[in-house]
Amino acid sequence: MDSSLLDDVAAARDAGLARIATAASLDDIAAVDAELLGKKGSLALLKTRLGSLATVDEKKAAGQALNAATQAVSEALDARRTALGRAERSARLEAERFDLTEELTAPRRGHSHLVTQAWQRLEDVFIGLGFQVAEGPEVETDFYNFEALNMPRSHPARSGFDTLFTDYHGETAEEGTVLLRTHTSPVQIRVMQTIEPPIYMVMPGRVFRRDTPDATHMPVFHQIEGLVIDRGITMAHLAGTIDAFTKAFFGGAFTSRLRPNYFPFTEPSAEFDIQRPDGSWIELGGCGMVHPNVLRAGGLDPEEWSGFAFGFGIDRMARERHGIDDIRDMYSNDIRFIEQF
Ligand code: PHE
Repeated sequence: MDSSLLDDVAAARDAGLARIATAASLDDIAAVDAELLGKKGSLALLKTRLGSLATVDEKKAAGQALNAATQAVSEALDARRTALGRAERSARLEAERFDLTEELTAPRRGHSHLVTQAWQRLEDVFIGLGFQVAEGPEVETDFYNFEALNMPRSHPARSGFDTLFTDYHGETAEEGTVLLRTHTSPVQIRVMQTIEPPIYMVMPGRVFRRDTPDATHMPVFHQIEGLVIDRGITMAHLAGTIDAFTKAFFGGAFTSRLRPNYFPFTEPSAEFDIQRPDGSWIELGGCGMVHPNVLRAGGLDPEEWSGFAFGFGIDRMARERHGIDDIRDMYSNDIRFIEQF
């Protein structure tokens, strides 16, 4: 007969309770829980010995003792888990706590968001190169966003812009004709329609595309557009301007290159890249000579005027400058992240 079973149950219970009392974290508690109450835990092992008891009374007594021990242990586990959970939570709250008391001495001042900083620096650099700044509406018509940019209704390039349309489409306009601009290029048309050339203008602003946010994409982002219209403007002026901008913005050790590309609104078109001093390349944006159809849509005679345009992402510039891996961090509005820049 296994007369020591009752003693072993008491010993296991006491050891378990002692172990629970010293558990230091929720992870620790989970481990202790498995050690004591798990399938191969100490109490379960004792249960397997019930069968070797000789009499029904002994089995009953040992079974009751085991149940009582199991209950005592699980109550102690629950109590300790609650206490540790509370402690861990208040430690976390304390660590993340914001001091909202007003300081009369040396108040901390806020600062511009890093995208705003990049936006302002870009404007400064272009103003330094002799450009003026213009802005256009974020809600645009099909005409400005596509049609006037040499992308008529059925143009395949339209599908490259995952466009968000507004429910509103005006009194006379048909559905699908009012949209959130997918790029800053529509401002080119508005500028040409309102300002007499020569035009040396940059147009920063917010743009929208139906994109799922990931490390490198946001459905709302920012671009800066450049437009130069004058007499006798050539691709060499475009390349020279991009290079002057590169050196002014990034530093004298950076260079730029143009790579052939296609845009409906420029011809020829190119993509432009910036080379870091270490030889690596950053893809920056698109550019090209303004297409005659676009000049006409802007009310200008292509026989008299020529020009170039470029456009690139502001958020990407900020990300590049600060080495940010995930663009979403810039918009999560976590002050601890934002404060670093
Ligand atoms: N609008 C283009 C884009 O969003 C960029 C671009 C601007 C290309 C101007 C050429 C000229 O991809």
